Amino acid sequence: MMNWLAELWRGGPAVVEAAGLRDAPKLAQLHGASFHRGWGEAEFEAMLAERNTLAHRLRSGRKIIGFAVSRMAADEAEILSVAVAASHRGRGLSRSLLLTHLGHLAGRGVRTVFLEVEENNQPARRLYERAGFGVVGRRERYYRQPDGQQLSALLMRRDLS
Ligand SMILES: CC(C)(COP(=O)(O)OP(=O)(O)OC[C@H]1O[C@@H](n2cnc3c(N)ncnc32)[C@H](O)[C@@H]1OP(=O)(O)O)[C@@H](O)C(=O)NCCC(=O)NCCS
Repeated sequence: MMNWLAELWRGGPAVVEAAGLRDAPKLAQLHGASFHRGWGEAEFEAMLAERNTLAHRLRSGRKIIGFAVSRMAADEAEILSVAVAASHRGRGLSRSLLLTHLGHLAGRGVRTVFLEVEENNQPARRLYERAGFGVVGRRERYYRQPDGQQLSALLMRRDLS
């Protein structure tokens, strides 16, 4: 199908914008569908209410199809979670979401950004590598899967200038 027609069908091009308290239910739903141990609505509400939290949502038409959340402390930030709805993955949407999010972190005075990613999570690793993050550490058997399998985490860092 022609791209513009596909876009129109899905509700227009995706836009990245600030996320607020009222997005908590939708963000919790997206998170729950993307991670084994989902964060509940109350957790998102508490997080979004904090002054040191920065959150963006990815919207296509009236649908929220992704988000990025970070916690800031002085001139450092940690990306807590990034997710795109499964039905919208593989189209590079996470890249503009992440780059916009990083731009706002820089605007808030953040100079160094950290994150943890599961070692076998190739889409996420590609996303972060292409956005300029480098591996600075490894945490052995950091994540436990529902089946008991333990997976390692990579600690990644990017300096913003
Ligand atoms: C990680 C995530 C946000 C990426 O979103 P997305 O919009 O689909 O990302 P993109 O389309 O930009 O793809 C990212 C990269 O992964 C690659 N990729 C996609 N699926 C892949 C797969 N199954 N295996 C390997 N690479 C894959 C893409 O080719 C792309 O790399 P490229 O830029 O070199 O082409 C999305 O997969 C997601 O929400 N996953 C579940 C939650 C999660 O794991 N979040 C990150 C945790 S830290």
